[in-house]
Amino acid sequence: MKILLCRLFILFLLPFTCSYKPVVLIHGIMTGSGSMEMISHRIQEKHPGTKVYNVHRFESWSSLETMWHQVLEIGMDIVNISSMHPEGINLIGYSQGGLIARGILETFSNVSVDTFISLSSPQAGQYGAGFLHLVFPGLVKDTVYELFYSRVGQHTSVGNYWNDPYHQNLYETYSVFLPYINNHIKSAKSEEFKSNILNLKRLVLIGGPDDNVITPWQSSQFGYYDSNETVIEMREQDIYKEDRIGLRALDESKRLHLLTVPGVNHFSWHMNVTIVDDCLLPYLD
Ligand SMILES: *[C@@H]1O[C@H](CO)[C@@H](O)[C@H](O)[C@H]1NC(C)=O
Ligand SMILES: *[C@@H]1O[C@H](CO)[C@@H](O)[C@H](O)[C@H]1NC(C)=O
Ligand SMILES: *[C@@H]1O[C@H](CO)[C@@H](O)[C@H](O)[C@H]1NC(C)=O
Ligand SMILES: *[C@@H]1O[C@H](CO)[C@@H](O)[C@H](O)[C@H]1NC(C)=O
Repeated sequence: MKILLCRLFILFLLPFTCSYKPVVLIHGIMTGSGSMEMISHRIQEKHPGTKVYNVHRFESWSSLETMWHQVLEIGMDIVNISSMHPEGINLIGYSQGGLIARGILETFSNVSVDTFISLSSPQAGQYGAGFLHLVFPGLVKDTVYELFYSRVGQHTSVGNYWNDPYHQNLYETYSVFLPYINNHIKSAKSEEFKSNILNLKRLVLIGGPDDNVITPWQSSQFGYYDSNETVIEMREQDIYKEDRIGLRALDESKRLHLLTVPGVNHFSWHMNVTIVDDCLLPYLD
């Protein structure tokens, strides 16, 4: 009888007592949901029963549509997904997708995210040829601000998070996305952006020195260039010191995890099983 009860427990109850939260995946620029399939399969293999939602919107060229447009459209899908899972969901964004994910987190207070994992995303912005040339091979990083910091230039996603350390006045004047979600410029939404981030159980920021596309690579962990192109790490940045979006509060309550992994090129993060096993799975419960 005891054994039978035990078997019954394992068969019927265990799956409920230790079920994993659903995971939403957001792909990077100039790719699509297909590029996130390996992560999806690995999660389902190692954490059986996990429901994985792989976002299909804004694939390929449409990934260049403006950041706010993508945040609002994908955000409405995630509101829907979240409402089906009141226990909470986990969110993973790769590359540009990690910045879209953060925009969604900050904007939608009716999305309930437990763990947000940013996989090599330009969270503090981008200033480098690597990323630029993925999309605009002919442009030069030193002068592209002339295009991006204009009304027209803000019609592309990359323009929305281009952060030129030598032209901060223009960045503040023209950029409609990054300075706002970073609460670098205060708006009517600033408090809500921060309080939504503070609802996270965990924030995991993954990046590494051999990325070669995110520039500087520390942007994946909110580090960035000063006006001399010297990299200042996150904890020395105003966004952290003044706790503009809640990074410091998350850090002080041990909810912020910075993972620095050498030896991984930008195009390998989402293709590397070791990364999934060591950097994603331990944070998904
Ligand atoms: C949300 O879910 C409802 C009901 O399933 C559906 O009718 C609606 O189209 C969905 N909205 C979005 C943005 O997916
Ligand atoms: C969720 O929040 C968004 C943005 O605040 C709003 O537009 C949407 O109607 C809300 N949806 C639900 C189902 O509460
Ligand atoms: C820029 O570099 C100069 C010379 O090394 C230094 O005096 C100055 O403090 C630096 N400025 C910043 C903002 O790092
Ligand atoms: C995969 O990731 C590991 C670190 O977890 C790294 O050492 C290795 O070089 C990576 N492999 C590739 C092909 O990027």
